[in-house]
Amino acid sequence: MVELRRFRKSLWLLMTLSAISVAILNSRFLLVDIHTIFHRAIDHLENEKFELFLHLFTAPVLLVGGALLFFDRLPQRFPTVHRWGGRAYILTVLVTSIATLKMSLNETEGPLTVFGFTVLSVLWFVTAALAWLRAVQGRYARHAEWMIRNYALTLTNVTFRAELHLFLWLGADFDLIYEPLRSLQFVPNLLFAELLIQTAFFTSPNWRDLLRADGYRRRRDRQLTSQPVQEFSVQMPPGDSPKP
Ligand code: HEM
Repeated sequence: MVELRRFRKSLWLLMTLSAISVAILNSRFLLVDIHTIFHRAIDHLENEKFELFLHLFTAPVLLVGGALLFFDRLPQRFPTVHRWGGRAYILTVLVTSIATLKMSLNETEGPLTVFGFTVLSVLWFVTAALAWLRAVQGRYARHAEWMIRNYALTLTNVTFRAELHLFLWLGADFDLIYEPLRSLQFVPNLLFAELLIQTAFFTSPNWRDLLRADGYRRRRDRQLTSQPVQEFSVQMPPGDSPKP
């Protein structure tokens, strides 16, 4: 079986490359008239032009920046980059989520879409705020968990499109599924994030400990909170392994 560390690295690479591709694609609004590409967002040009453009500028940066922050060696090898990158990411999410909340409340697509985007904006803000708070408090294990939840929400627009195309491929009617999918778009992402957290996917040294994740997670939390950690970290201290 593929070693867990290698599997984790491959997944991270895949996620980062996908994030970069989507970010490049979304940045085409810098060159092309927005009316011709983001049809579903142009309603916001009239009353929320500033919010829309703020969102369009920050979305690709958050997508790529968030993925890079999950590079597992970053906290240990480049603590300053991790600290300042993390602060910039969280601050940008906090500001952007206020803009998306305003757009969400004025969304014209339909009530379910309004609901989906509004809840997503609030959750995006709250998870970023909690990630920051836990880091400031020195509760790094909790900080890492809130960052996982937050980035899972950042990826919502990407995963929503994948889900939508899967349903269309299965023969579903676009008009029937678009709104219900939009309204619950954050649910699969949060469930997946929770699965990663509860199984200690990011910190288990091997598959065996992943399956005994609960005990492992408690031990790891004790270690992380009992030592004077200088940086936030989703990674175990070097060479660490669960005590028998
Ligand atoms: C009414 C509310 C919103 C509107 C009109 C809107 C509009 C857009 C548009 C036009 C894009 C460019 C790509 C595309 O066409 O999908 C985009 C991308 C993005 N949006 Fe939003 N958005 C809204 C709310 C949100 C919220 C609440 C989040 C919170 C997670 C979010 C996160 C993202 C991200 C991360 C991207 C870049 C990645 C991607 O395109 O998949 N958006 N948004």
